[in-house]
Amino acid sequence: MDPRPATFPAQLIALGAADAAFESVLDVADLPAGAMRRISRGELDILLAHTAEGVVATDDRCPHMSAPLSIGELDGCVVACPLHEGQFDLSTGETVQMPTTGGLDADGAYHPTWSPGGRDAKVDPPGKKAEARRLTRVRRLRYYPVRILDGRIEVAIPRT
Ligand code: FES
Repeated sequence: MDPRPATFPAQLIALGAADAAFESVLDVADLPAGAMRRISRGELDILLAHTAEGVVATDDRCPHMSAPLSIGELDGCVVACPLHEGQFDLSTGETVQMPTTGGLDADGAYHPTWSPGGRDAKVDPPGKKAEARRLTRVRRLRYYPVRILDGRIEVAIPRT
């Protein structure tokens, strides 16, 4: 049986995706449960993920510092970024775990740096680098509508 597209919060649709034409991008057989793939069109890199809630398409850019989420780890609906330990819920667009470098969350609240495994938070050297970490906002994911037709995954991809 074909997987189903996952639902996502309507307000988190990617710019231009609401009016975009659906494009066939991948056989469903090439995205088994728990798998992630990058699909590129021009300068746009899209993450396709087969989550516990279905197939979802978002930007393949971490909402922290743009690392490719497609080479991270997917557990249920939560993707772990390959950099800075950030974790994001693909079913809601929300941050599950802030990056180790801290910063501002999507609502503008500050979270300090931290270290995994209960170790003390890193002390930032003063200067621009620490300021950049403090002021980096971890945004919510943005989504591209998905549909499944005749064993193919289709994604509404805006023209870039
Ligand atoms: S780039 Fe993903 S957590 Fe920093």
